[in-house]
Amino acid sequence: MDPMSFSIEPAKELLSAQTHIWNHIYSYISPMALKCAIQLGIPDAIQKHGKPMTLKELAISLSLHPNKALSLGRLMRLLVHSKFFSNQILSSSEEAYDLTVNSQLLLKDHPLTLAPFALMVLDPIFVESSHKFSCWFQNEDDNPFHTAHRKSIWAYISCVPDFNKLFNDAMASDTQFVVSLLMSNDEFRGLLVGIKSLVDVGGGNGTMAKAIAKLFPELTCVVFDLPHVVQGLTWYDKNPIYVEGDMFEAIPPAQVVLLKILLDLQMMNITAGGKERTEEEWRKLFISAGLNDYKISRNLGSRSVIEVYPF
Ligand SMILES: C[S@@+](CC[C@H](N)C(=O)[O-])C[C@H]1O[C@@H](n2cnc3c(N)ncnc32)[C@H](O)[C@@H]1O
Repeated sequence: MDPMSFSIEPAKELLSAQTHIWNHIYSYISPMALKCAIQLGIPDAIQKHGKPMTLKELAISLSLHPNKALSLGRLMRLLVHSKFFSNQILSSSEEAYDLTVNSQLLLKDHPLTLAPFALMVLDPIFVESSHKFSCWFQNEDDNPFHTAHRKSIWAYISCVPDFNKLFNDAMASDTQFVVSLLMSNDEFRGLLVGIKSLVDVGGGNGTMAKAIAKLFPELTCVVFDLPHVVQGLTWYDKNPIYVEGDMFEAIPPAQVVLLKILLDLQMMNITAGGKERTEEEWRKLFISAGLNDYKISRNLGSRSVIEVYPF
């Protein structure tokens, strides 16, 4: 096709397609700008300041290199656009930045902070495996993580202590957020009334189980996870109890089995066969496992709670 032969109308369409592609391929800059803001502590600095902060104040409080102060304005412009900060013009005519509800959830000392989760998802170890998607589609590896790192994610985590901590802290921050919502909901709290034993399978560092045990001290909770996750963990009154093992071999018996997990392409990225399912796919899975009564509650944002019963 002769590139000079387009009339104006198709050219408009092409330009729109080019914009679409550019928006898509450059969209990775947005989470990386957010990661930079979390790492620099921009939300925390504004919170500490107690009122909207000018670029100059922000640059000083973050101890930025003097040559980088102007670039901070470019970073903040994108983060205002993506609704992590708001901006306003002060009476001095300077622009000042304030937190939004989105950045409040990224404050390091917010009780429901999602900062550790964001930093884990955007860590080069995870991002690197997403660079291997196309390779993985053509090889025999279980997942792109294996293609990138030559090990399963769990084997990798077990021998890289810093990444083990990053991952477990990240999951704990997500779980703290979810469990706070669940346990403030009468319906969900009601599900555990009268229950005597619960096992959280793949329960990480026990954030979910600790919250449940605090609300229901008579309920014995077990956190079941791989050795590198639970080794050395104890809780002051032995509830929850930490048990190490492999869920594909056996899990400790309990009246209630709890499982809490992640997203579809991320599961494709890191697990061997883990995936999100439609309701019909879940139904078939439950029936094939001899579990035929279930209820899905979709009032947890992007996720759902699925209760499954044996009869
Ligand atoms: C996505 S994390 C979820 C952690 C926790 N449920 C939460 O939501 O915060 C998955 C957890 O499953 C654990 N896990 C992975 N394979 C396992 C296995 N074969 N047996 C037991 N736990 C396993 C991991 O160590 C990790 O803690």
